[in-house]
Amino acid sequence: MDLFKIMAKEGHEQLIVSTDPETGLNAIISIHSTLLGPALGGCRFWSYKTFEAAAADALQLSKAMTYKAAIGGLNLGGGKAVICARPTEKTPALLRAFGRAVDALAGLYVTAQDVGMSLSDLETVREVTRYAAGMPEEKGGSGDPSSMTALGVVHGMRCCLKEVFGSDSFRNRTVAVQGLGKVGRHLVGLLYREGARLIVADLDASRVTAAVAEVKAETAPPGRIHTAACDIFAPCAMGGVLHSATISKLRCRIVAGAANNPLAGWADANLLQRRRILYAPDYVINAGGLMNIACEMEGYQKEKAEERVAGIAENLSRVFARAKEEKISPLEAANHLVEERLAKTRASRSGG
Ligand code: NAI
Repeated sequence: MDLFKIMAKEGHEQLIVSTDPETGLNAIISIHSTLLGPALGGCRFWSYKTFEAAAADALQLSKAMTYKAAIGGLNLGGGKAVICARPTEKTPALLRAFGRAVDALAGLYVTAQDVGMSLSDLETVREVTRYAAGMPEEKGGSGDPSSMTALGVVHGMRCCLKEVFGSDSFRNRTVAVQGLGKVGRHLVGLLYREGARLIVADLDASRVTAAVAEVKAETAPPGRIHTAACDIFAPCAMGGVLHSATISKLRCRIVAGAANNPLAGWADANLLQRRRILYAPDYVINAGGLMNIACEMEGYQKEKAEERVAGIAENLSRVFARAKEEKISPLEAANHLVEERLAKTRASRSGG
């Protein structure tokens, strides 16, 4: 793995490797870009098999954060951290050692919650650095971002409905939701109140039971939810679920959900396009949680956060307009819009 080559090609600014033998900390912080502001991104706690795997994840995830912040109109850059350890190795001392590594960057990178890190872990990190965001609500923070992510997905879906059917109403529309975790659970509640018909699935049967106790919904086997006849298919579970085999089975007009990287590869956006299925790019529609955390950094006000999250509809509509204009997929259009914003900022910095 030639880190220099990868970082130069993808435009990363820094990769920081941090160790602390006393606490067993092995962490990598990837700063993709600070062009638009401090590089914000969660910390993933995961037992990576190799250093290369951990570095590759940090590099890829931090670039995605730059794109999410840029298209969301936020003045934030993209970063991500990974702590390489087994869950049993997580101690307050190790988390504080990570916090000190973040603090040493003096605000260039701001950490937050991600897979394997709880809110209380983040509070421990925060004991030694102020550069940690997404703190509990009772401590004046913005709390768990999942409900705001779900709200943003609903705004994004409205934009998709308008684009495809000419009306943004959920009445008589069917949404198939794959995954009823932190985001999916909130999403089905919001969609139900909007009057949508729902089909739901989760690998964990208890989550399906809990959802149908709260909202009227049909259920589907998790292995077949993507084949359900519906208007919108909403991936809200793992990444990589859409590829040639699953895309050929879709019976929807729109793919719009919270999952990060739902496409197995970038070319799958073109497959969806060929099947005339409108795709809402993941990092545009699932930015609600990030917008919520960004509001915390300015002094959290829920109404302000909700207003910002509502802007996701407008952001998507710019993406769709650009895609039509250039006859490209919405994913390519979103990438172009981000790259233009970054290039413009870079040019104004260098006086060009
Ligand atoms: P979660 O871990 O709380 O929930 C995921 C759910 O999906 C679990 O209930 C799991 O059993 C289920 N699942 C896994 N594979 C499945 C399959 N093949 N079929 C059906 N169900 C399956 O995760 P969370 O936080 O709800 O996130 C969901 C997705 O949204 C992830 O891709 C995440 O990266 C993304 N996301 C989440 C944000 C947040 O604010 N939580 C923000 C932006 C993106």
